[in-house]
Amino acid sequence: MPSAEEVMTVTDRRTGHGPDGARRPPEATLADETEAQARFERLIAEDQRIEPRDWMPEAYRATLIRQVAQHAHSEIIGMQPEGAWLTRAPSLRRKAILLAKVQDEAGHGLYLYSACETLGADRADLTEKLVTGRQKYSSIFNYPTLSFADVGVIGWLVDGAAICNQVPLCRSSYGPYARAMIRICKEESFHQRQGYELLMTMMGGTEEQRAQVRDAVDRWWWPSLMMFGPPDAESPNTARSMAWRIKRHTNDELRQRFVDITVPQAEALGVSLPDPDLRWNAERGHYDHGPIDWDELSRVIRGDGPCNAERIATRRAAHRDGEWVRRAASAHAAKRAARDAVGAGVAG
Ligand SMILES: [Fe+2]
Ligand SMILES: [Fe+2]
Repeated sequence: MPSAEEVMTVTDRRTGHGPDGARRPPEATLADETEAQARFERLIAEDQRIEPRDWMPEAYRATLIRQVAQHAHSEIIGMQPEGAWLTRAPSLRRKAILLAKVQDEAGHGLYLYSACETLGADRADLTEKLVTGRQKYSSIFNYPTLSFADVGVIGWLVDGAAICNQVPLCRSSYGPYARAMIRICKEESFHQRQGYELLMTMMGGTEEQRAQVRDAVDRWWWPSLMMFGPPDAESPNTARSMAWRIKRHTNDELRQRFVDITVPQAEALGVSLPDPDLRWNAERGHYDHGPIDWDELSRVIRGDGPCNAERIATRRAAHRDGEWVRRAASAHAAKRAARDAVGAGVAG
């Protein structure tokens, strides 16, 4: 937990804005501030939820906006690697499953942008920050999908890693984020299972199909481990996010949990994971794994992954192509509002 002074320097005393972005009444005094701060800390300590209208330190709000926006962007960009296979799905059943999954990801993005708006963020501004590279999305979506086996491996490993990350977020201290995560996790569970089921089917197929699965696993394993972020020693914001109960576990803890869950699944599937150092450590009660190439992660985060430019270009084009839809929806909403106002006037 940051010290009282540290928090007070970044509170809404500086901006004069309340939790909903509205100006606080001028009579708000330092005593009110101190009381609001004490209430915030009590809610966190009691493991209760902070709601949009509650007072919160400005740094808590900024941390959440950054995290939730990055999460929303990841859901939206995450539609692209698998979306590329919608027109090439090998059967109607696989196409229907994949379509449902990709649509779920769009829905996840929308819940999360809404959660971000409850913190006072502006949706158009978030999109602008994404397409201009000022806000990030998960590095994993900058890798290409080379065969239909990639659809299965993304479901199994990428959605599987997302579940490890997101289940604890259902208890995140910020109410709208925690509630969005409950529904999202249910859908992620379906995503993980459809991926695993697809891989099981392919492993029971031809030698060529098995080779596609092995190749996809080899390509996605290490990037999946990187999804949990840098090692704890290089993750300076983790301690504060944990003190605020935005995060519940460190990056390394979650990564370890993912490895422990996934190794037996790989055995059941009959594939080996591309890590010669991967073995059970009876003393620790966990699997040990080999070193992760953190240079690769920072390269991909910096924009030098295999598909960064393509992902952003596609998103930018989609945003531009959707301009007329946004204009039409706004015009329609304005027309309805005007009609409702006239109606209310007549009724009054
Ligand atoms: Fe998702
Ligand atoms: Fe998913």
